Amino acid sequence: MGSREWGGAEARSYYRNNQQSTVNSQQSTMKALILSGGKGTRLRPLTYTGAKQLVPVANKPILWYGIEEVVSAGITDIGIVISPETGGEVQAKTGSGERFGANITYILQDFPAGLAHAVQVARPFLENSPFVMYLGDNLIQQGDLSYFLKQFIQQQQDALILLRPVANPSAFGVAKVDEIGRVLQLIEKPKIPPSNLALVGVYFFSPVIHDAIACIQPSARGELEITDAIQCLIDHQKQVEACQLEGWWLDTGKKDDLLEANRLILDSYLTTSVAGEVDAQTQVIGRVQIGSMSKVINCTIRGPVIIGSNCHLENCFIGPYSSIADNATLIDTDLEHSVVLDGAKIVGIHQRIIDSVIGQRAQLTVAPRRPKALRFLIGDDCQIELV
Ligand code: TTP
Repeated sequence: MGSREWGGAEARSYYRNNQQSTVNSQQSTMKALILSGGKGTRLRPLTYTGAKQLVPVANKPILWYGIEEVVSAGITDIGIVISPETGGEVQAKTGSGERFGANITYILQDFPAGLAHAVQVARPFLENSPFVMYLGDNLIQQGDLSYFLKQFIQQQQDALILLRPVANPSAFGVAKVDEIGRVLQLIEKPKIPPSNLALVGVYFFSPVIHDAIACIQPSARGELEITDAIQCLIDHQKQVEACQLEGWWLDTGKKDDLLEANRLILDSYLTTSVAGEVDAQTQVIGRVQIGSMSKVINCTIRGPVIIGSNCHLENCFIGPYSSIADNATLIDTDLEHSVVLDGAKIVGIHQRIIDSVIGQRAQLTVAPRRPKALRFLIGDDCQIELV
């Protein structure tokens, strides 16, 4: 870490203003930075063709949950960091922010050089405002952001980080804290973790973080790490506080986490509504949503299940915790605890499909000719488990 002088005029003027203001007026100057760039290697092959932040959870892009959470905490000035590869798609789908009651600015990060690099690139948008940084592939329980935002503003902290005990701390940024909860050290993906407390992908920063970022160097993996920047704040005796998140938190960067997010969202928030056509032979049990122009014929649907618009389902069993996106076709299929993306087609698979993510327009059908055999056209990095 360098020894450049920092925490200067900009940071001081922030504090002067801060002392005179109320929580409410601070809230209105707060900005949000949502990170929706990155490589998404852990969610391949889905991320070869699209942004991981647009993969749907309960038929809604993951990214949108973050935007809604930020807006419901009262922050409407939102910057979204995008990559050259998937930024166009994120922007086209998410729009100007009007649908969320927000004003969205898109910020291009030329290459995924780390979370602190994303903050650096976003500096012209952030100016000298305090801000919340939210990783666009993370989900936290509704309402939690508001709670911690109030604390950050009232206590005039330099940084507030959220921690959650995890079983595999080596996969995350990890915090070492003292007995009264003060953060002593942060380490990114440590081989020997000092605790099981992982950094949740939601951070609150005063503008002094920009000075800290200017002091750090890329890590061994070549990224400007936000953990190093926060460590720099700690080393300079800035006020860095940590709180334990009691509600749930999911990093949806991998398949199983995506399925778990889908289960949690369906379990917690799905309400029944049937707009499509359901025939008399079909049994609908529990909380089920069926979108307009969808046809459900001779099926058993056991909720919580969400089915999008313009789907065709015939002779199927759809079990709990399944999300089926628009334009999907499922015939003679048993499926449970799975996510089916837009336009996928599954026909005549007589074994139950569980714990699966089926990509956009993917086709899973039974061989129409002899010899009876498995025939594949499988893209890079796909995972297929046969019995
Ligand atoms: P990560 O999941 O840590 O990184 P990644 O997207 O490159 O994924 P993988 O490890 O599977 O290759 O990133 C967390 C969030 O931050 C995610 O929404 C992507 C975003 N991000 C950026 O916007 N810019 C960056 O430079 C990095 C590293 C991540």
